[in-house]
Parts: sequence; C-alpha cells; structure tokens
Amino acid sequence: MLSFLLNILLASNAQASIQMALSDGAKPAIQRADSIQFEMKSSADVFSPKDMLSMPRPGQGVANPDGDLVIVPVSQYSFETKKTNKTIYISPLDSTIGPIEFPLVNGGEAFWLDSRTLAHVVNENIFAVTLDYNATAFASGSSSFVRVPRSPYLVGSFPIGTSPTNFKFTGSKKVHTSPNEKDDLQHILVFSANVYSDYDLNTVKEQDEKWENRGNSALVYDELFVRHWDEYVGEKKTRLFSVELNWEGGDSGGSWRLGTDYFKVLEHTEHYTPVEPFGGTDDFDVSQEHIVYTAKDPSVSGATHTRQNVYIVPLKGGLVPRELTTGHQGATHSPVFSPDGRWIAWAEMAEDGYESDRAVLVLYDLKSNKRWYLTQDWDRSVQSIEFANDGESSNPTIFVTASEHAYVKVFSFTVPDFVTSETISKPKTPKFPKPTAITHSGSVHGLQALHNGKLVFGRSSYTGPNNVYLASGASKADDHINFTRVERITQFGVKELKGKALDHGEQFWFKGAEKGREVQGWVFKPHGYGNSGDVAENDAEGTKDNSDKKEKKWPAVFFIHGGPQGAWEDGWSTRWNPNVFAQQGYFVIAVNPTGSTGFGQDFTDGITKDWGGKPFVDLLHGWKYALKHYPIDEHRAVAAGASWGGFAINWIQGHPDYGFGFKALFCHDGIFDTRNGGYTTDELYFWDHDFGGLPWSKKAKETGEKFNPSQHVDKWSTPQLIVHGGKDYRLAETEGLAAFNALQQRGVPSRLVLFPDENHWVLKPANSYKWHYEVFRWFDQFVGKDAE
Ligand SMILES: *[C@@H]1O[C@H](CO)[C@@H](O)[C@H](O)[C@H]1NC(C)=O
Ligand SMILES: *[C@@H]1O[C@H](CO)[C@@H](O)[C@H](O)[C@H]1NC(C)=O
Ligand SMILES: *[C@@H]1O[C@H](CO)[C@@H](O)[C@H](O)[C@H]1NC(C)=O
Repeated sequence: MLSFLLNILLASNAQASIQMALSDGAKPAIQRADSIQFEMKSSADVFSPKDMLSMPRPGQGVANPDGDLVIVPVSQYSFETKKTNKTIYISPLDSTIGPIEFPLVNGGEAFWLDSRTLAHVVNENIFAVTLDYNATAFASGSSSFVRVPRSPYLVGSFPIGTSPTNFKFTGSKKVHTSPNEKDDLQHILVFSANVYSDYDLNTVKEQDEKWENRGNSALVYDELFVRHWDEYVGEKKTRLFSVELNWEGGDSGGSWRLGTDYFKVLEHTEHYTPVEPFGGTDDFDVSQEHIVYTAKDPSVSGATHTRQNVYIVPLKGGLVPRELTTGHQGATHSPVFSPDGRWIAWAEMAEDGYESDRAVLVLYDLKSNKRWYLTQDWDRSVQSIEFANDGESSNPTIFVTASEHAYVKVFSFTVPDFVTSETISKPKTPKFPKPTAITHSGSVHGLQALHNGKLVFGRSSYTGPNNVYLASGASKADDHINFTRVERITQFGVKELKGKALDHGEQFWFKGAEKGREVQGWVFKPHGYGNSGDVAENDAEGTKDNSDKKEKKWPAVFFIHGGPQGAWEDGWSTRWNPNVFAQQGYFVIAVNPTGSTGFGQDFTDGITKDWGGKPFVDLLHGWKYALKHYPIDEHRAVAAGASWGGFAINWIQGHPDYGFGFKALFCHDGIFDTRNGGYTTDELYFWDHDFGGLPWSKKAKETGEKFNPSQHVDKWSTPQLIVHGGKDYRLAETEGLAAFNALQQRGVPSRLVLFPDENHWVLKPANSYKWHYEVFRWFDQFVGKDAE
C-alpha cells in the first residue's frame, strides 16, 4: 500500500496532498495549480479530439422506393464558427463514388414522397423537392447527375410551435418514378408531436405561452415520473397523428398537397408514442391500412415498470387500438409490418422491470390472429427487424440485427412452414429458427429491404463513422437469405481519416470469474507503436513475439463501460472513442466483463445483485492478461469509466486490495452512494431489478449496502478526476459532488468538472472538447512522463 502511494508521489507533483492522505487528515487539499501546461497531441498523423469532433456525423440513410437513391442526414460541427450545420446528402445506390452533398439548407428532416420527390421539413413547413436523376451521367462520372428541375414548393404547413417529427409516409413504400401514375394507394403521412392533454395541435402555442406566463416557476407532481433522462416531465406528451398527403393535378403537372384534417389516431387512450426519452420512428410502422406501435402499458407506472404493449389501429384512427401483446410481458420495441401488411414482427422481453432481458422476435399473423415467439431458442437479443422484400414467397424471410461477441451483426432466417401454412399443424417439438449471421464486423443498424431484393443498412466501426452499405446478390438457402456482395456506398470520414492510421482493435479472450468461461476484451495500440505510428491493419497476431517492440513500454488506459448491461463493440463513438485515447499515446484496454451484452443472456444476467462481484474478477483478470501480453508500463496505467463504469471507478478506488495498481482514475457520471441511487434515479425499475427488490426491502438493502462505494471511502487514496452533468437525471449530480467532497476531505488529489447543461452524456462538441482536455491533462500529470 505504501509503495503504491510512493509511486504516485514520484509521478505527481502533489506531495503535500499525498501527505494528508497518509495521515487521513481532514484538512482541505491544496487546490491543484491551474497553470499546469498541457496540450493534447495533434498533427497531420494524429487523430485528435478536435479532428473527431469536427468530422461529419452521418445519420441513418433512407433509400427511395425504387431503390436507386439514398438520402443521409449529416451534421457537422465547426470549431471556427462554433456551430453545427445540418445537411442532407444524396447518393446513388449503385456505386461507391458518392456521396454528393445535396444543398438543403436547414437540412434536418427529409423523407421520400416518391422515388423522385423529397419532402423537406423546415420548422412547421413541408417543401417538395423534385429530383431528376440521370444514371448515365452518374456512370460517366459527371457530378451533375442529380438536378432539381422545379423550384421546391410548399406542400403544406403544420400549426406553428408544434415541431412535428418522426415522419412515415404510406406512399413511400410504392415503387414508381412518376407521381402522375394513378394508383389506389392511401397516401397518409403519420408523424408525432408533443401536445397537451387535449391532443390538439392547434392549441399548443397558446398553452405553451400560458404555461410560460403562469407567474411562478413551480413544478408540481402527484405521480411519477418527476424527471426523465434530462427533462422535468410536464403536461405535454408525445402522440401520433395522421394526415392525408396526396398528389393533386393532371398528367401534365401537379403538386403534392398536405391535408388539413389531423387524425388523432390514439384518441381515448393513454398511449404515448414514440416512447420517451429515446423513441423515434422505430416505435411505429405503417402499412396500407394500419399503424402498429409500441407504448408503455397505461395501467402501470412507467417509472417502476418497463412493460410496453404493441397495438394496431387504422391509419386514420376511429377505432379503439387493438393490443397484440399478451399484456404480461416486459418491454417491446421495433414493431414492423411485412411488405404485404399481413405479418407484424416486434422484439419482446419476457420480464417486466428488466430492461436488459433477452428480446425475442414475436411474429403476429393478422390473418389468423396467431402470435409466435420465433427466436425463443436463440441466445441473442433482437435489436431491430426488417422483412425481406422477396415478392410472393409464402414464407417471409426476416432480417434482424443483434449483438454478438462485440459486433452488431445482421442475421436472417426464414419463417418455418408450421407457422405460415394453415394446413400444417404445429409439430410436437417445433424447430424454432436460429438466425444465421450474414455480416461479421462493425455495428449495423437501420436495415431497409428494397423491392429488388437488396438490403441497405448503416454500419460503423472502430475505424470509421456510420456509412451506408448495400448488400446484393441475394441467395436463398433453406432457412435464411445470404448476399454475395456487400459494398460501401457513402464515404463519410474517409477524407478526414486519411493518414491517421486508426487501429481496428484486436480481440483477446481470457479466463473469467466463472469456471470454464472465457471473457472477451479489446486492445488498441498507441500512436507511435510499431514504428512511425503505423499500427498495421494486418498486425493481427499482436506484439508478444516481437522483441524490439518489447523494449519500449507504454502508458495505458483501462476502459470500463456503462450499462452495466452494454458492451465495447466495434462501432464509432464520439464519446468514448478508443482510438482518440490510443492516438494520445496510450494503450487502451477495454474488457467486456460479466453483465455485458452479446455473449449470451446468462452472462448479461450474471451481474444482477452482484455489482461488485464477478465483474471485478473479470476486469482484474482481463487487466492482468493485458499486462502480460502487451508492452504496457504498469506504473503508468490509469482507469476510466462512465455510469456503471463510474461506479466501478469508485469501487476500485475503495478496493486497493484488488491490486489493479492504477495511478489515476477518472469517473464520469458515476455512482457514489448505491443505496441513495435507488431513490434518486429516474427509471426506478432499473435499480429494483439489479439489486433484487424495492430499495427498502431487506434483500435490496443488503445488496445495495454490500456494493456501496461510499462504504469504502476510508481507503480512497488514488488521484481522481470527476466529471458530472448537471442535467444527469439518471445518476444525479450529487453523486459526483459527494465523491469530490470525500476526496477533498481526505486530501487526495482530485478535480471536479461540472457541465451544468449536459445530461448523462457530454454531447455538445465544445463541451466534449473540454472533457477530452481535462481527461488527458489529468492522466498526463500522473503517468505522462516515463518514470524510468
Ligand atoms: C458544414 O460544415 C462543414 C465543416 O465546417 C463544411 O465543410 C461544410 O461546407 C458545411 N456545409 C454547409 C452546407 O454549410
Ligand atoms: C444523361 O447524361 C448523359 C451523359 O452525360 C447525357 O448524354 C444524356 O443526355 C442525359 N440524359 C438526360 C435525359 O438528360
Ligand atoms: C454468405 O456469402 C458470403 C459471400 O459469398 C460468404 O463468404 C459467406 O460464407 C456466406 N455466409 C453464409 C452463412 O452462408
């Protein structure tokens, strides 16, 4: 213990503070000098925090009905103007030359009216933008392959102050290139808006003003939620509306027109969807006749229950929504229709109150009103769902995304005969499908099956942000569809990352807490490792046998993820991007301990009521493995984590006996007092589940106390940086304050950085830059210089 402290002494210039720690004094610590000179590394071959934060941030691509063009919303921050601009990019889906920036100023939301017309939503107005796409010109390399032959025109306006969003248009499912073609489709636009309890778009502005001018600032509550994620809950709630949006005019010309009757499709219910705080267009889908959606069960409190039911209602409402779930399940998400509108699929968890239960794909047949739990034998959790567009096939094929071994992959499976055929009865021991993985790297989201059998999706990785991919050459096997070709369509980030030599990350597996169970981790090599920063793509076997690399030892950061039911996955992040840390000269070790997702449900469940148990055995074994196999200087190692990872930092701080030996710690939005957390967090079910009961129950009190970092403050001695968001209502700001108060009274070198306007995540680019600066500055003080 003493030598451990002496190491800190050598590596830091805070000797007075350490003395106090040794004497357990209660005197205030000397304020750390603000004058410490520190600059983050940045140069042409370094991927700096600034580089990362000013990269384009592409959203989800959406293909047109014909499947030849895709639009991608992109936002980008500029450190010069201190502003984020938003643009819509458009790219042909048949090549890798794109993307071409499409000049939609204020380009936030857009959707397809038909294959050649974009609806562009600016504030409360919808404009139609007609496109003229010349594939021949594109193939010959001409940049003017898309023209706008007609000035954008107003399609219609929503009442002022309503901020409509989450648009889904029934017409955009039809394949056609001319809006003049007569068809018998319903053209209905479904969207959401925040409205008062009168469910009326027309009174929103007036009621907003009345609330603003009520003469006091009190917020009054009789029931939960009080606050949720980063907002105090008010009277306004998210509701769905539908409205007609038709093509009007003859063959020679015409226009799209928005109707003026808004249908309150969820009237006479207490259904609110998309579900706050993260719900979006994934929470509902439209067919030619219906809307299917997920909403919190109105009969129980959303703060103590995760249950969400799936309902179906006609496009224009008018009937009481019909529930398709049993009403006894837990959360549901991602309800989608099959292309012919007969089938509905959604992801469903069995246990109410547990947000990280395994999500099973449920298939509902509107023809027979039967419900099937199709992936019940598959030990993966369904994240998103899309029906293949395979024409008249009687057995639909379904694509899903799911986490598996630190990737988010696309899987597919074909619905078995006993489900689809009315003549085949259910076998005694039915063989339920086990989906087949058809992608194997990166993190996939936003599946979109095209009418031509191709599949569009978004994928990011540790080495690049989200880009649009196209899978083609479908081949149908007995039980799944595979593709012979997967190509990247857009090129976001390629230019910006040129010459930066980002590391793909290398996986390692080691023995974990449970007998016979291997646990997975990632290693990222520091900038400058292996000569001239060339962390080679092909350097798969790592470093063990290379003796000249062995001579130099490097500082390291140990990453601990939040959740705790989450994982370090091969995907792009602007918050915890391992390459940004590696590029500042650190080895990054990121382990997926017990509780992590994508390694089987029992592994995820293993952290329940065991927060300070098995996960720390895994973390320690992973860390020791890394020390043994990579040239890490163990005297220059630090650890960092947010949320549950922040709990883990505070827990490690109080457990020097574990022997991690970190020289400095960084806790972002972590937990200091576990038991208090059970009363102050917004989603109370989370704590109740993970600690095995209500906070005052005997069992949960015991577990909460057993794994309470605040019980071990008497052993806190490692320098620690604390960052907390003032709008963090998941783990309240007082958790960060309490930990800082403890460290200061103990005289342990510590710094508190508060972001009053950030939630559980630091999202504003300028704040994120400051976050990175403080973190790297902190680490640099303790492990920056080679001790040798
Ligand atoms: C958006 O910002 C980026 C970065 O500052 C810039 O390159 C781009 O031209 C901007 N686009 C628009 C449409 O202003
Ligand atoms: C499309 O582009 C090609 C090549 O640039 C050009 O020859 C052709 O006239 C264009 N077609 C139309 C309809 O504009
Ligand atoms: C899918 O197709 C690709 C490309 O042809 C092939 O490499 C892969 O093994 C196939 N996967 C399965 C599960 O059949």
